[in-house]
Amino acid sequence: MKITIPYKPRVQQNFLHQTLRKHRYALLLCHRRFGKTTMCLNHIIREALLNKNHNPRYAYIAPTYKQAKSIAWDFLKHYASKVPGVKFNETELRCDFPNKSRITLLGAENFENLRGNYYDGCVIDETSLIPASLIEEVLTPALSDRKGFMYLVGTPQGMNNIFYEYYLKAQGDKNWLLYTAKASETKIVDQEELDQALSLMGSAKYNQEFECSWIGNVPGSIYNDELEVLEDNKRLTSVPFDPAYPVHTSFDIGYNDDTAIIFFQDIRSQIHIIDCFADHNQPFPYYAEILKQKPYSYGYHLAPHDIEVSEYSSGKTRREVAYQHGIKFRVVPKTLLDDGIHAVKMILPRCKINVDTCKPLVDALRHYHRKYIEKDRIFKTKPVHDWSSHFCDSMRVLATGFEEPKYQNANRQRTAISEYKII
Ligand SMILES: Nc1ncnc2c1ncn2[C@@H]1O[C@H](COP(=O)(O)OP(=O)(O)O)[C@@H](O)[C@H]1O
Ligand SMILES: [Mg+2]
Repeated sequence: MKITIPYKPRVQQNFLHQTLRKHRYALLLCHRRFGKTTMCLNHIIREALLNKNHNPRYAYIAPTYKQAKSIAWDFLKHYASKVPGVKFNETELRCDFPNKSRITLLGAENFENLRGNYYDGCVIDETSLIPASLIEEVLTPALSDRKGFMYLVGTPQGMNNIFYEYYLKAQGDKNWLLYTAKASETKIVDQEELDQALSLMGSAKYNQEFECSWIGNVPGSIYNDELEVLEDNKRLTSVPFDPAYPVHTSFDIGYNDDTAIIFFQDIRSQIHIIDCFADHNQPFPYYAEILKQKPYSYGYHLAPHDIEVSEYSSGKTRREVAYQHGIKFRVVPKTLLDDGIHAVKMILPRCKINVDTCKPLVDALRHYHRKYIEKDRIFKTKPVHDWSSHFCDSMRVLATGFEEPKYQNANRQRTAISEYKII
């Protein structure tokens, strides 16, 4: 039987319908008004109609029941009503098809009720506002019976939520489809509308809602552009440790503050950042032990100039203490903060970062920013000193201390030609 649903997918939606069928897990990061809710609902309607399993079950989950109703119920009824024999249950926001498939709209606020169900597939809309335990404790087991799909959909809402965590995961995991759509690229929302949104929202909020920027709410971000390039070039990804090469480290050393360590490998002039570590209020031997426990064989260790400071208690410099614990530091030259930031900007495009192990480093790079002074309408020259400073300082040590490999000319001339006579 041929059923015609009143929906003509846009180019991007069509691409997603084709591609999603090949993926069990997907994260769709799309600007407002992209048509993601519409696309997802139509996707599950089609899946529900084509599914030959016994009593297939699908869920569309929004942060609250009320939201599920207001964002999706009318859309679902509009599209699904063309299926002959379909039944809608208004109180349970449920749609039953004659092939015994069922789509239910759910709110994440009382997800305990979902325990014990099974699903052939689910879509989570506005994922940034969803509790992590819904996915980990309830949905993952509910999907395992039927190897059901899970699609996480939304726009960014800063970095402190489950959507951002899965975004990092999706970047490094081949089982996940990661799709990003910025308004400036899709041209779905016309320019006049976008200009108006920009003037109403201000650029930070606009970048978050329409340009899919995670740091849209951190104006004055220092490494934003470089991180975007890394993302576009798929350099925030899975970068495993390569045992054929030594691992180098760079340190930012603090006693009351965090000590932040970056582990990297220099592989054919590309910098592979494979691991990172941070802690605070620990004496140096603790960090030396952490290094020993890792399965790496080490090359060089970089430290900032303040490693030459003597400790009050022992009278020894930190460098000497480190040496006693088997770590021979190279002190990087002291540079102006701005020069160091510039060095990081220059070196970042050559880096590949392993997102699985380096989330704190990536978060810090994204967050590191200059403060905006409202009354003067300028950004302060010095970056804000906060949790993100330590990894960014460690990155500065890496950038200023990184040893460019020395290329040797294999065919170099070995003896001088001495027959040449001037007269
Ligand atoms: N393929 C389409 N054809 C026509 N209108 C569409 C299409 N997809 C979405 N829309 C419309 O665009 C608007 C935004 O869609 P919605 O799915 O709510 O976007 P998002 O969830 O990405 O913000 C809605 O009014 C919807 O009806
Ligand atoms: Mg939506």
